[in-house]
Amino acid sequence: MAVDMSKIQSFFPTQIYRADKVASAKLNRELEQASLMLAQDDGAGIKWCEKHGYPGYTSYASLNDLPWRIPAFKALEKVLDRHAAAFAKALHWDLRGGKPVCDSLWVNVLPEGGSHTSHIHTNSVLSGTYYVAVPEGAGPIVYEDPRHAMMMAAPPLKANAPLSHKAHVPLRPAVGSLLFWESWLRHEVPVNRAEGLRISVSFNYVIGEK
Ligand SMILES: [Fe+2]
Repeated sequence: MAVDMSKIQSFFPTQIYRADKVASAKLNRELEQASLMLAQDDGAGIKWCEKHGYPGYTSYASLNDLPWRIPAFKALEKVLDRHAAAFAKALHWDLRGGKPVCDSLWVNVLPEGGSHTSHIHTNSVLSGTYYVAVPEGAGPIVYEDPRHAMMMAAPPLKANAPLSHKAHVPLRPAVGSLLFWESWLRHEVPVNRAEGLRISVSFNYVIGEK
């Protein structure tokens, strides 16, 4: 029997916000230069990466004031604020006079062979990534169905199941792409098999008054 799709409703959406080319070429160039400069000069960050086996460089544990330190990150934060507000609206959040505020923002420089295992972003409501440099053939960011732990007896999906039904959803960003998701959504970056550096800026948003 053919399925009458009008008999089926969908609830509990997991939404991922994507916008492309959100920064000018000039701003992106400045972000790239600043990221590479940090990867060379941020001694505390480089040490942290070595100690924790992080492939490449991240400012995650060493610098918590990039928008104040470097104007390009401040300019990016302004762009991100607008998109965060739009996404919050689409999620129907009642913010009671508050708004999404950038709580932390950090740089990731991932060389060939680097990856970032599955994780969530705690202590925030929205998280996201802006892509500064994406080498040819670079892998996707992969999101995981948040109901995975409840799927003990669920049958596997057919190979041709639509992406909206899959348990793992790979999205391929381009230079200038921005992705936002709710911070509880688990995601990972599989091994970067492309030659060249994959440079991104990640961030967490909370609800604040700023
Ligand atoms: Fe992440």
